[in-house]
Amino acid sequence: MSSVPAKLLQTLQQHHQHRLLACLQLLPPAQQMALSATLADVDFDLLQATWLSASQPADNHTSVDRAALAQAPSRVVRQPVSATDHQAWALARSIGEQAISAGTVAVITVAGGQGTRLGFEHPKGLFPIGPVTDRTLFQIFAEQVLARRRRHRADLPWCIMTSDATHEETVAFFQQHRYFGLTPDSLHFFRQGSLPALDAATGELLLSAPGQLALSPDGHGGLVTALARAGLLELLQAQGVQHLYYHQVDNPTAIVADPALLGFHIQQQSQATTCVVCKSSPTERMGVLVDLQGRTEIIEYSELTAEQAAGQDSNGQWIFWAGNTAIHVFDRQFLASFCEAGRELPLHIARKNVPCVDETGQPLPTATDGQPNAIKLERFIFDALPAATNTLIVEGDRQREFNPVKNKSGSDSADTCRAALSRIAAEWLHATGLPVDPQTRYELSPLVALDVAELVNHHQQGTLPAITRTTAGCIIATAP
Ligand code: UTP
Repeated sequence: MSSVPAKLLQTLQQHHQHRLLACLQLLPPAQQMALSATLADVDFDLLQATWLSASQPADNHTSVDRAALAQAPSRVVRQPVSATDHQAWALARSIGEQAISAGTVAVITVAGGQGTRLGFEHPKGLFPIGPVTDRTLFQIFAEQVLARRRRHRADLPWCIMTSDATHEETVAFFQQHRYFGLTPDSLHFFRQGSLPALDAATGELLLSAPGQLALSPDGHGGLVTALARAGLLELLQAQGVQHLYYHQVDNPTAIVADPALLGFHIQQQSQATTCVVCKSSPTERMGVLVDLQGRTEIIEYSELTAEQAAGQDSNGQWIFWAGNTAIHVFDRQFLASFCEAGRELPLHIARKNVPCVDETGQPLPTATDGQPNAIKLERFIFDALPAATNTLIVEGDRQREFNPVKNKSGSDSADTCRAALSRIAAEWLHATGLPVDPQTRYELSPLVALDVAELVNHHQQGTLPAITRTTAGCIIATAP
């Protein structure tokens, strides 16, 4: 094993990585060197500690205690009800719009996930979601970004996080579509890191082929280091960007660079602001934002007993009402300081069936006695929230803003999301006074209107593009 550094061999022995040692023994020198280089970046102590804690008997004392200590978030802006509320929202919106115009805002889309629940064989951003034209998730976001840039005469840089699983196809897709009319130099594709899958029984790293680790994207929490590694935190700083609007690729109704959310974030000098929606029932499977010992944290639905989930405060309000939409605004400096301090978000584990081989390349079973063979590791972006000293929760309009595509069918599926896009377009058309047929599907390009007021204005000014009727429904769009 002349091509393998002695220190690495020692580390592998100390951590009982017998399969890797056997594999290195069998590889030709060039592949030994390549695998050694990959292994040099692996934190074996951390992986072993994570596997050990995952192997402990289930004990949810810690999470039950967290839930018992949690309170409903105190720094909250709720949806507007009174005239005063509406004034506050209008003010926030104008502060947000000024920030976009001043060039202090960038958009971050995380699009590195493998979308296993949806079962689509391409990156999720390529998923056709337009209710009439099948326009893709990426096109809807690109049109939102372009429309915002035009409306606010701003650069509004757009950073798209990909992974080894999605990078090439994503970049090729944008090239093929000529970046949907966006200037390519204002678009930054950057790749997140990956983490090795562990053998659930032994904690050893799994091989996808001889000489190759079984790797998967390191979770949306990989964003923080990926931004720094790509030099984007520095680039955005040099461009004067202070506020990072973060959203996920699977919710096309997210209001990209939402001026109201940005405005409240800026007004209240928040380091991390989260858009939440009221859970539809206490048992809805959604993470919730809470105050925990003076910090903002997320409690996963799986951490709550049914009784806790339904818990109320002294005003009769649910404690665990504030469902996470995964839409955030981060202060750039807050994320930069997090990286500079050398901090890492914690690892979360998921037991999954991962295809893998032994050192000779023979496939190994992906499950034993019905138990998945592997532990996959991920970091979650919301674990950054407790590190912020100043956070804010803003309640969004659930019907308008939160319609994710997660599953093949049922709730949060392509069908529910398409229906939501069509419903929103129909509601806006109705507000213009034009007739709307409840049986017809509607699709509205963000390039025509980013909000209902813009559509009504087009109608009043006579600048509304013609509505095209097809067998699939009605489309209101302009050329990019
Ligand atoms: P999900 O947690 O829903 O995961 O991601 P997913 O990969 O899309 O789908 P499943 O769980 O395999 O079915 C939420 C968002 O975070 C991004 C996804 O692309 C999506 O926008 N994400 C997730 C990443 O960017 N990287 C990751 O490693 C994981």
